[in-house]
Amino acid sequence: MPAEHILSLLVNGEPVRRLVPAHRSLLDLLRDDLDLTGTKHGCDVGDCGACTVLVDGVARLSCITLAVEMEGRDVRTIESVAQGDRLHPVQTAFDKHVASQCGYCTPGIVLALIALLDEDPHPDDDTLKQTLGSNICRCTGYTKILAAAREAAGRGEEGTK
Ligand code: FES
Ligand code: FES
Repeated sequence: MPAEHILSLLVNGEPVRRLVPAHRSLLDLLRDDLDLTGTKHGCDVGDCGACTVLVDGVARLSCITLAVEMEGRDVRTIESVAQGDRLHPVQTAFDKHVASQCGYCTPGIVLALIALLDEDPHPDDDTLKQTLGSNICRCTGYTKILAAAREAAGRGEEGTK
C-alpha cells in the first residue's frame, strides 16, 4: 500500500486536492492542512464528539476517520454552517438559550444536531438526548443545550422544563 495518496474531495463546497499520508486523520487534514480549526481536537479516540463533521450530510467523527476514506466525498465543517452574517437555525437557538460556555464542544454539537434535524426535523426528547449523549460538554450541564435543541426542533415553547 502506498505511503501517500492523492486525495480529491469537497470541503465546504470547495474542491480540495492534496497529497496525504495513508495514516492521516480527517481531523488533522482539516485543522493542520486546511486551517479549518473550528473542528475541535478533543479525545482523539472517538469518545467526545468535539471533532464531528458532516460527510455527505451524515455526522462523522473526524479523529477516527482516515482522510483517504474521503475520496470524492462532500465534507462540511462548522465554518460552512452560517451564511455570511446569517446563522443557521441551530446556531440561532444556541445563541438564544446561551447554550455555549467555553464553546469547545459547540461546533460538534451544532453539526450533530444539523445532521439529526435534516433526517428528522421534529425529534422527540429521547432522540435529542441520544444525539447529545455522543458529544461531551464539560461546562453547561446540558440543560441549555437541550433547550436550544428543542428550539431548533420547533419545540422552543418547552424551554428548559
Ligand atoms: S476528538 Fe474525535 S471524538 Fe473526541
Ligand atoms: S461549553 Fe465548554 S465543553 Fe461545552
